[in-house]
Amino acid sequence: MSRKTEFIIVLSISCGLLYMESNSINIPQCTCGHCHVKKHKDSWFSKHFNASYHPLMTSNSSNVSTETFQWWKRLQRRHASGWNEYRKTVDKLFEIIPNKELYRDEGPDRCRVCSVVGNSGNLKNSRYGPLIDLSDFVLRINRGPTEGFERDVGSKTTHRIIYPESAIDVDNSTHLVMFPFKLLDLEWLISVFTTHTVKRGNTPVKSTIKANLSLVTVASPSFMKYVHEQWLEKHGFYPSTGFMTVVMALHICDKVRLFGFGADKHGNWDHYFGKTPPLYKTGQHGGTFEYNTIKELHKRNKIEFYRRW
Ligand SMILES: *[C@@H]1O[C@H](CO)[C@@H](O)[C@H](O)[C@H]1NC(C)=O
Ligand SMILES: *[C@@H]1O[C@H](CO)[C@@H](O)[C@H](O)[C@H]1NC(C)=O
Ligand SMILES: *[C@@H]1O[C@H](CO)[C@@H](O)[C@H](O)[C@H]1NC(C)=O
Ligand SMILES: *[C@@H]1O[C@H](CO)[C@@H](O)[C@H](O)[C@H]1NC(C)=O
Ligand SMILES: *[C@@H]1O[C@H](CO)[C@@H](O)[C@H](O)[C@H]1NC(C)=O
Repeated sequence: MSRKTEFIIVLSISCGLLYMESNSINIPQCTCGHCHVKKHKDSWFSKHFNASYHPLMTSNSSNVSTETFQWWKRLQRRHASGWNEYRKTVDKLFEIIPNKELYRDEGPDRCRVCSVVGNSGNLKNSRYGPLIDLSDFVLRINRGPTEGFERDVGSKTTHRIIYPESAIDVDNSTHLVMFPFKLLDLEWLISVFTTHTVKRGNTPVKSTIKANLSLVTVASPSFMKYVHEQWLEKHGFYPSTGFMTVVMALHICDKVRLFGFGADKHGNWDHYFGKTPPLYKTGQHGGTFEYNTIKELHKRNKIEFYRRW
């Protein structure tokens, strides 16, 4: 049920300070002018951010510790699966999706500007579209559409963040990034590109999906656990997809901008595309804590948080 919970977010990541400005060695800088990775200048940020966690899974990083596996397994509750089943499924998955390390190219020559676009009604009439489309990466969450909303949300989508129950078709240049909350999610991903036999998750799911298989990736359970423990201090049962996308952007981008996150000026939590959202503040996600963390990131100049009211 909380799977359906769409954490309303649009984040754009922005790049930080002149790398010349830094007197600390060892810290990868970027050419954006302001790189949020100047993390060691901010003790709050460095308490939460740990560059050794990578958001995306490879065959190597799928070999998680027992502790991580237990954490991930607990999310599945009564459907929990064992290690062998997990191992077998992941091996099968990497026979069909690329097993490549992505986005580990941070350094002084890079300036990757990212926008994370959530689904909040506060995007309505925002005219943020052109600003969003200027980003190198535009990460959109769950079903947030662009068609018909270009002026306010833009038209570019480089990454579509989903879980099976929220999946939609994407075009041939968009990365599909799935957050797995249970073994069935990994089985679903295999199935949509092969046998089309998985038709139910927590709710009915699409048995087939249009996407470029060479651009399909999966989030790593270790990363999910890290977000829950390091960033949310274990608030909520597990982090929302929206919040994990924000942290993912901090890891793979130099500058992060966040759009479409939070309530509108009337305090409503509807979507910009008009459907009534599920109650995101209750249930399994530490919604208030997540929101406060995002405000803190903004305050500390680690992300740019756009809310046009
Ligand atoms: C970052 O995470 C790694 C892997 O869990 C750990 O070994 C390391 O101590 C952490 N670094 C900091 C500064 O907490
Ligand atoms: C996973 O770890 C086990 C035991 O540590 C090892 O035997 C196996 O080769 C590893 N697999 C991968 C894909 O790294
Ligand atoms: C997996 O680990 C092995 C051994 O450390 C390394 O040679 C290989 O490049 C890694 N593969 C990926 C896809 O990261
Ligand atoms: C990708 O999609 C675009 C637009 O839908 C289409 O014009 C193009 O031919 C496709 N590219 C490939 C390689 O299929
Ligand atoms: C899938 O993406 C790859 C890598 O960007 C691209 O080379 C290929 O043309 C795409 N395939 C289709 C059918 O568009």
